[in-house]
Amino acid sequence: MTRILIAAFLVLAAGAALAGPKTYDLPEATAQLRPAPSGHETGFEAAQTNCLSCHSVDYIAMQPPKKGRAFWESEVTKMIKVYHAPIDEAAGKAIAAYLTEAY
Ligand code: HEC
Repeated sequence: MTRILIAAFLVLAAGAALAGPKTYDLPEATAQLRPAPSGHETGFEAAQTNCLSCHSVDYIAMQPPKKGRAFWESEVTKMIKVYHAPIDEAAGKAIAAYLTEAY
C-alpha cells in the first residue's frame, strides 16, 4: 500500500515538474485617451482625471465614431446623473467638447 502511494506521489511530482511555468500573451496595454486636438487640452486633462476612475478608456473608444457633440454631452451627463461621477459642469462641457473632436 505504501509503495503504491509513493509511486503515485512520484508520478504526480514528475507531472508537476514537467508542466513547468506557463506564459500567456496578454492583450495590448490598456488604451490611452486620444491626444488632445489643439484647443482641447483642458477637456483632455479633465477626461484623464474624471473619466478613467470607474472604467477603462475602452468604454469611450468602443463607441461608434463621429457621434457628435450631443451624444458626448449626454454621455457625460449620464455618467454624472446615473452613475454619480463627481464632475462639475465646466469640466463636463470641456470633456464633451474634447470627446467630440477626438472621437
Ligand atoms: C462614477 C463612475 C464613472 C465615472 C467617473 C465615469 N463613468 Fe462612464 N460608465 C460608468 C458605468 C457604471 C458605465 C456602464 C457600465 C456598463 O454598462 O457595463 C459607464 C459606461 C460608459 C460608456 C459606455 C456607454 C454607456 O453609456 O454605457 C461611456 C462612453 C462612458 N461611460 C464614458 C464616460 C466618460 C466620457 C466619463 C467622464 C466624463 C465617464 N464615463 C466617467 C461609470 C462611470
